[in-house]
Amino acid sequence: MEFEGRVAVITGAANGIGRSCAELFIERGGSLVLGDIDLDEGLKLQAELGDRALFLEANVRDLAAIQALAAKAVNHFGGLDILVNNAAVALNGAVDEIDEDRWQTVIDTNLTGFWRAMKACVPHMRERGGGSIVNMSSVQGLRAFKGWPAYAAAKGAINALTVQTAADLAPAGIRVNAVAPGTIMTPMNEKIFAAMDDPSELIDRWNKAHPIGRFGYPNEVAETVAFLASDRSSFITGEILRVDGGLAIKGD
Ligand SMILES: NC(=O)c1ccc[n+]([C@@H]2O[C@H](COP(=O)([O-])OP(=O)(O)OC[C@H]3O[C@@H](n4cnc5c(N)ncnc54)[C@H](O)[C@@H]3O)[C@@H](O)[C@H]2O)c1
Repeated sequence: MEFEGRVAVITGAANGIGRSCAELFIERGGSLVLGDIDLDEGLKLQAELGDRALFLEANVRDLAAIQALAAKAVNHFGGLDILVNNAAVALNGAVDEIDEDRWQTVIDTNLTGFWRAMKACVPHMRERGGGSIVNMSSVQGLRAFKGWPAYAAAKGAINALTVQTAADLAPAGIRVNAVAPGTIMTPMNEKIFAAMDDPSELIDRWNKAHPIGRFGYPNEVAETVAFLASDRSSFITGEILRVDGGLAIKGD
């Protein structure tokens, strides 16, 4: 019950990795304020998790909505200890093909959205005397994968933001770390497969790209997020922790 008495905000909580984090944090005693733009799945999750979870429709592209999410943690549960900065979109397109609107959507959601959540949550953590922020990065912030420049740029920037804010916020007792997953079977990837006539070749290639020989699962990422969010990692800050089945270390 490592999260008993702890209050966490999770963005992009209605599906995939965020949802898995919410389920694990509740299991371990936490109280949660969950934000997402997917109202239907968010309300289903709230019903599944019970009284210690509140869902709010909150778009990370809207600072006021994210500030309301953070304020809810304080007003309803009495404070805010943990931010899981997770909401993002997966939009590809080579650098000379992607249009400006698509580029801005990725950067505004996957980078500026993470800053908005930090801006909203950090003042409440300072009031509490400390906290832990876990930013959801990606192996794509560390290695090149053909055709994903905007997404990769945002994730690379999240790594830099993590290191910078870890140093800035350490005196306030706030630790900041990032998790860099490999390919994880979530709705984000299911949508990519669903848009293809025959995704079997891609699925096979992605599985084989991981030295462990398979995709990861959301609960494997959630376990790592829980470690970084909890006191078990009390001397770790500014770390980018890969959860990638060895994807980033593969040489051929
Ligand atoms: N699935 C993977 O292979 C993988 C790999 C590396 C990193 N990641 C990262 O993990 C995180 C979660 O990804 P996932 O695979 O669970 O994706 P997902 O699409 O399954 O879930 C993302 C959630 O974010 C929400 N969301 C999207 N835009 C939003 C916005 N503007 N405001 C609020 N919520 C919004 C979606 O509604 C959804 O519920 C993302 O940061 C992603 O970049 C995923």
